[in-house]
Amino acid sequence: MLELNEAPAYFERYREIIPRFEEFLEHLKKPLPLYFRLNELKCPREEIVLKGLERQGVKVEPVPNFPKFYRVEPRDFPLGNTEEYYLGYIYPMTLSSALPVLALEPKPGEYILDMCAAPGSKTTQIAQATGDRAVIVANDRRLDRLAALVANLKRLGVASALTTIYRGEVFPYGVPFDRILVDAPCSGEGRYRQGYEGELLYQKEGHTNLPAIQKGLLVRAFDLVKVGGIVVYSTCTINPEENEMVVDYLLRKRQAEIVPCDYPLPHHPGVTEWEGRVFHPDLAKAARFFPHETESVGFFVAKIKRLF
Ligand SMILES: C[S@@+](CC[C@H](N)C(=O)[O-])C[C@H]1O[C@@H](n2cnc3c(N)ncnc32)[C@H](O)[C@@H]1O
Repeated sequence: MLELNEAPAYFERYREIIPRFEEFLEHLKKPLPLYFRLNELKCPREEIVLKGLERQGVKVEPVPNFPKFYRVEPRDFPLGNTEEYYLGYIYPMTLSSALPVLALEPKPGEYILDMCAAPGSKTTQIAQATGDRAVIVANDRRLDRLAALVANLKRLGVASALTTIYRGEVFPYGVPFDRILVDAPCSGEGRYRQGYEGELLYQKEGHTNLPAIQKGLLVRAFDLVKVGGIVVYSTCTINPEENEMVVDYLLRKRQAEIVPCDYPLPHHPGVTEWEGRVFHPDLAKAARFFPHETESVGFFVAKIKRLF
């Protein structure tokens, strides 16, 4: 556990890559705003949900440039205890965690792998974006987390996803996928901040060698996607060793390119140099999102095209 007063020393190594570093540190003391995604698969009549929530005393505002996303005030409202939640009409979700699926651009009729899928925020977002008319394989290596994924698929009325439980690094070969999302296990530094009660919302992942796991996942995903297909690699961490260095490893091993992407939140290019190491120039086309600029979780997203 990293206490809030230890944060300045911990994040100091990122001073050069975090814009307005002092503002970033101050922002860690603010709780996250509360958002949800309205799930059209279960709830075709938006106004019923919005009125139902407003009757419970909350203010609900649409988020500009994020269709179907709403901001809720007050931000400590227990959305997860509402009837709207249990009926699968809404899915609480931070704004930046919606970005990897925006980059993926899934289409109806496509064959899509969500390699690290649990608890299913992004699998259900893919299902919604494709009108539940794609074929989605939602994989995760952890049975306990897969149970939460299955519960979410049911609650949100997703029929287009099946679940598997492989280590992504050895996911079996078969018909090549059109698109693959690798929302990788990471150190989660982008989630670091204080919660409503003053507690810290950060638990460092227990893995000892995350970059090695992440490289294994990304290379396998690349080998599983069709030529011309898309792999999106995302994490919620700031650490270049888990972001640019992982994608750099792929770009040097395989014929791939990073595709630039429009995002509805402020962002910065991926770094091309870190602690004396120089990365593939394509990494400037990846995107970094910071908590203090997005009022959300810090994220890294790279949209990668398989060339050969
Ligand atoms: C960042 S979380 C995924 C969040 C999920 N995409 C969502 O939006 O709800 C990373 C997930 O990777 C899973 N994971 C860790 N190592 C894995 C591996 N080697 N293969 C597949 N999944 C793995 C973890 O169990 C965890 O559920």
